[in-house]
Amino acid sequence: MKINSAEFIISAVRPEQYPNTGYPEIALAGRSNVGKSSFINRLINRKNLVRTSSRPGKTQTLNYYLINDQFYFVDVPGYGYAQVSKQERAKWGEMLETYFGMREPLEAVVLIVDSRHKPTEDDQQMVEFIAYLNLPLIVIATKLDKISKGKRQKAMQQVENTLPAYDQMTIIPFSAETGENKDKAWNAIKYYL
Ligand code: GTP
Ligand code: MG
Repeated sequence: MKINSAEFIISAVRPEQYPNTGYPEIALAGRSNVGKSSFINRLINRKNLVRTSSRPGKTQTLNYYLINDQFYFVDVPGYGYAQVSKQERAKWGEMLETYFGMREPLEAVVLIVDSRHKPTEDDQQMVEFIAYLNLPLIVIATKLDKISKGKRQKAMQQVENTLPAYDQMTIIPFSAETGENKDKAWNAIKYYL
Protein backbone atom coordinates (compact mmCIF):
# COMPACT_ATOMS: atom_id res chain seq x y z
CA MET A 1 0.00 0.00 0.00
CA LYS A 2 1.41 3.35 -1.00
CA ILE A 3 0.81 5.95 1.70
CA ASN A 4 0.20 9.40 0.29
CA SER A 5 -1.24 10.94 3.39
CA ALA A 6 -1.90 10.08 7.01
CA GLU A 7 -3.34 12.55 9.46
CA PHE A 8 -4.76 12.60 12.93
CA ILE A 9 -8.42 13.63 12.81
CA ILE A 10 -10.03 13.46 16.25
CA SER A 11 -10.00 11.88 19.70
CA ALA A 12 -13.59 10.80 20.11
CA VAL A 13 -15.48 9.66 23.17
CA ARG A 14 -19.11 10.10 22.16
CA PRO A 15 -20.76 8.93 18.92
CA GLU A 16 -21.52 12.55 17.93
CA GLN A 17 -17.77 13.02 17.63
CA TYR A 18 -17.22 10.16 15.21
CA PRO A 19 -16.50 11.46 11.69
CA ASN A 20 -19.47 11.49 9.31
CA THR A 21 -17.59 11.20 6.01
CA GLY A 22 -18.71 7.61 5.56
CA TYR A 23 -15.16 6.35 4.86
CA PRO A 24 -14.55 2.77 6.00
CA GLU A 25 -12.97 2.21 9.41
CA ILE A 26 -10.52 -0.41 10.65
CA ALA A 27 -10.37 -0.57 14.46
CA LEU A 28 -7.28 -1.54 16.42
CA ALA A 29 -7.96 -3.38 19.67
CA GLY A 30 -5.84 -5.19 22.20
CA ARG A 31 -4.32 -5.23 25.64
CA SER A 32 -2.84 -2.03 26.91
CA ASN A 33 0.83 -1.60 25.88
CA VAL A 34 0.70 -4.54 23.47
CA GLY A 35 1.71 -2.46 20.44
CA LYS A 36 -1.47 -1.13 18.78
CA SER A 37 -0.07 2.33 18.08
CA SER A 38 3.26 0.89 16.92
CA PHE A 39 1.39 -1.33 14.48
CA ILE A 40 -0.32 1.66 12.85
CA ASN A 41 2.91 3.66 12.71
CA ARG A 42 4.73 0.79 11.04
CA LEU A 43 2.00 0.25 8.47
CA ILE A 44 1.94 3.89 7.44
CA ASN A 45 5.73 4.34 7.66
CA ARG A 46 5.58 7.03 10.31
CA LYS A 47 7.63 6.87 13.44
CA ASN A 48 5.35 8.93 15.57
CA LEU A 49 2.05 9.87 14.00
CA VAL A 50 0.38 7.73 16.62
CA ARG A 51 1.73 8.28 20.09
CA THR A 52 3.38 5.25 21.61
CA SER A 53 4.66 4.94 25.12
CA SER A 54 6.17 2.67 27.68
CA ARG A 55 3.49 3.98 30.05
CA PRO A 56 0.49 1.72 29.51
CA GLY A 57 -3.08 2.89 29.49
CA LYS A 58 -2.29 6.13 27.74
CA THR A 59 -4.81 5.98 24.95
CA GLN A 60 -8.19 6.66 26.56
CA THR A 61 -10.20 7.84 23.59
CA LEU A 62 -11.01 6.52 20.12
CA ASN A 63 -8.30 8.15 18.04
CA TYR A 64 -9.10 8.54 14.35
CA TYR A 65 -6.37 8.61 11.71
CA LEU A 66 -7.32 9.27 8.09
CA ILE A 67 -5.19 7.36 5.58
CA ASN A 68 -4.91 8.43 1.90
CA ASP A 69 -8.25 10.28 2.26
CA GLN A 70 -9.70 6.81 1.88
CA PHE A 71 -10.20 5.10 5.23
CA TYR A 72 -9.63 5.49 8.99
CA PHE A 73 -7.51 3.58 11.43
CA VAL A 74 -9.26 3.87 14.79
CA ASP A 75 -6.88 3.39 17.70
CA VAL A 76 -8.99 1.98 20.53
CA PRO A 77 -7.96 2.25 24.21
CA GLY A 78 -6.32 -0.93 25.49
CA TYR A 79 -7.74 -3.27 28.12
CA GLY A 80 -6.24 -5.15 31.02
CA TYR A 81 -4.34 -2.30 32.59
CA ALA A 82 -4.42 -2.91 36.35
CA GLN A 83 -4.06 0.71 37.48
CA VAL A 84 -7.42 1.76 36.15
CA SER A 85 -10.32 2.47 38.52
CA LYS A 86 -13.55 0.50 38.41
CA GLN A 87 -15.35 3.61 37.25
CA GLU A 88 -12.93 4.20 34.39
CA ARG A 89 -13.18 0.59 33.36
CA ALA A 90 -16.98 0.77 33.22
CA LYS A 91 -16.76 3.92 31.10
CA TRP A 92 -14.31 2.17 28.78
CA GLY A 93 -16.62 -0.82 28.39
CA GLU A 94 -19.55 1.41 27.57
CA MET A 95 -17.59 3.33 24.97
CA LEU A 96 -16.41 0.14 23.27
CA GLU A 97 -19.82 -1.46 23.26
CA THR A 98 -21.25 1.66 21.68
CA TYR A 99 -18.53 1.88 19.08
CA PHE A 100 -18.16 -1.77 18.07
CA GLY A 101 -21.83 -2.53 18.48
CA MET A 102 -23.30 0.03 16.13
CA ARG A 103 -20.65 1.68 14.05
CA GLU A 104 -21.87 1.35 10.49
CA PRO A 105 -18.57 2.15 8.64
CA LEU A 106 -16.60 -0.33 10.77
CA GLU A 107 -15.44 -2.94 8.26
CA ALA A 108 -13.01 -5.07 10.26
CA VAL A 109 -11.23 -5.29 13.60
CA VAL A 110 -7.49 -5.76 14.00
CA LEU A 111 -6.78 -7.40 17.36
CA ILE A 112 -3.16 -7.09 18.46
CA VAL A 113 -1.85 -9.84 20.74
CA ASP A 114 1.64 -10.49 22.09
CA SER A 115 3.15 -13.41 20.19
CA ARG A 116 5.39 -14.24 23.16
CA HIS A 117 2.56 -15.05 25.53
CA LYS A 118 -0.56 -17.13 25.71
CA PRO A 119 -3.49 -14.81 24.81
CA THR A 120 -5.14 -13.51 27.98
CA GLU A 121 -8.73 -14.03 29.14
CA ASP A 122 -9.42 -10.50 27.88
CA ASP A 123 -8.00 -11.38 24.46
CA GLN A 124 -10.24 -14.42 24.31
CA GLN A 125 -13.28 -12.39 25.35
CA MET A 126 -12.49 -9.82 22.72
CA VAL A 127 -12.52 -12.50 20.00
CA GLU A 128 -15.85 -13.76 21.33
CA PHE A 129 -17.26 -10.24 21.30
CA ILE A 130 -16.12 -9.61 17.70
CA ALA A 131 -17.49 -13.00 16.64
CA TYR A 132 -20.80 -12.19 18.33
CA LEU A 133 -20.95 -8.99 16.27
CA ASN A 134 -20.08 -11.03 13.17
CA LEU A 135 -17.23 -8.67 12.22
CA PRO A 136 -14.17 -9.79 10.26
CA LEU A 137 -11.16 -10.17 12.57
CA ILE A 138 -7.46 -9.88 11.77
CA VAL A 139 -5.31 -11.04 14.69
CA ILE A 140 -1.81 -9.59 14.63
CA ALA A 141 0.61 -11.54 16.82
CA THR A 142 3.19 -8.82 17.32
CA LYS A 143 6.68 -8.47 18.87
CA LEU A 144 7.81 -11.44 16.82
CA ASP A 145 11.31 -9.95 16.82
CA LYS A 146 11.52 -10.86 20.51
CA ILE A 147 11.20 -14.59 19.79
CA SER A 148 14.08 -16.59 18.37
CA LYS A 149 13.38 -18.08 14.94
CA GLY A 150 13.29 -21.63 16.28
CA LYS A 151 10.53 -20.83 18.76
CA ARG A 152 8.21 -18.85 16.51
CA GLN A 153 6.16 -21.69 15.15
CA LYS A 154 5.36 -22.96 18.62
CA ALA A 155 4.45 -19.46 19.76
CA MET A 156 2.05 -19.07 16.84
CA GLN A 157 0.47 -22.42 17.63
CA GLN A 158 -0.12 -21.22 21.16
CA VAL A 159 -1.89 -18.11 19.90
CA GLU A 160 -4.05 -20.10 17.53
CA ASN A 161 -4.92 -22.81 20.04
CA THR A 162 -5.79 -20.40 22.84
CA LEU A 163 -8.05 -18.01 20.93
CA PRO A 164 -11.62 -19.20 20.32
CA ALA A 165 -12.15 -20.56 16.83
CA TYR A 166 -13.88 -18.10 14.52
CA ASP A 167 -14.35 -18.56 10.79
CA GLN A 168 -13.85 -14.86 9.99
CA MET A 169 -10.49 -14.75 11.79
CA THR A 170 -7.02 -14.53 10.18
CA ILE A 171 -3.86 -14.71 12.32
CA ILE A 172 -0.66 -12.99 11.14
CA PRO A 173 2.74 -13.03 12.89
CA PHE A 174 4.20 -9.52 12.90
CA SER A 175 6.85 -7.18 14.21
CA ALA A 176 6.53 -3.41 14.38
CA GLU A 177 10.24 -3.31 15.15
CA THR A 178 11.41 -5.03 11.95
CA GLY A 179 8.35 -4.61 9.73
CA GLU A 180 8.14 -8.35 9.20
CA ASN A 181 4.90 -9.34 7.42
CA LYS A 182 3.83 -5.77 6.93
CA ASP A 183 2.66 -6.67 3.41
CA LYS A 184 0.58 -9.57 4.69
CA ALA A 185 -1.06 -7.28 7.22
CA TRP A 186 -1.84 -4.70 4.51
CA ASN A 187 -3.28 -7.33 2.21
CA ALA A 188 -5.56 -8.60 4.96
CA ILE A 189 -6.75 -5.05 5.68
CA LYS A 190 -7.15 -4.00 2.04
CA TYR A 191 -9.54 -6.85 1.49
CA TYR A 192 -12.07 -5.07 3.71
CA LEU A 193 -11.72 -1.56 2.30
P1 GTP B 1 -1.53 1.80 24.82
O1 GTP B 1 -1.96 2.83 23.82
O2 GTP B 1 -0.90 2.39 26.05
O3 GTP B 1 -2.61 0.82 25.15
O4 GTP B 1 -0.33 0.93 24.15
P2 GTP B 1 -0.24 0.36 22.67
O5 GTP B 1 -0.93 -0.93 22.56
O6 GTP B 1 -0.59 1.42 21.67
O7 GTP B 1 1.33 0.03 22.57
P3 GTP B 1 2.48 0.90 21.92
O8 GTP B 1 2.41 0.83 20.44
O9 GTP B 1 2.55 2.23 22.56
O10 GTP B 1 3.76 0.01 22.33
C1 GTP B 1 4.08 -0.29 23.68
C2 GTP B 1 5.56 -0.62 23.78
O11 GTP B 1 5.87 -1.81 23.05
C3 GTP B 1 6.47 0.45 23.20
O12 GTP B 1 7.61 0.56 24.03
C4 GTP B 1 6.84 -0.09 21.82
O13 GTP B 1 8.07 0.37 21.36
C5 GTP B 1 6.88 -1.59 22.08
N1 GTP B 1 6.57 -2.39 20.86
C6 GTP B 1 5.45 -2.33 20.12
N2 GTP B 1 5.49 -3.20 19.08
C7 GTP B 1 6.69 -3.83 19.16
C8 GTP B 1 7.34 -4.86 18.37
O14 GTP B 1 6.83 -5.38 17.38
N3 GTP B 1 8.59 -5.25 18.81
C9 GTP B 1 9.19 -4.72 19.89
N4 GTP B 1 10.39 -5.19 20.23
N5 GTP B 1 8.60 -3.75 20.65
C10 GTP B 1 7.38 -3.31 20.30
MG1 MG C 1 -1.58 3.27 21.95
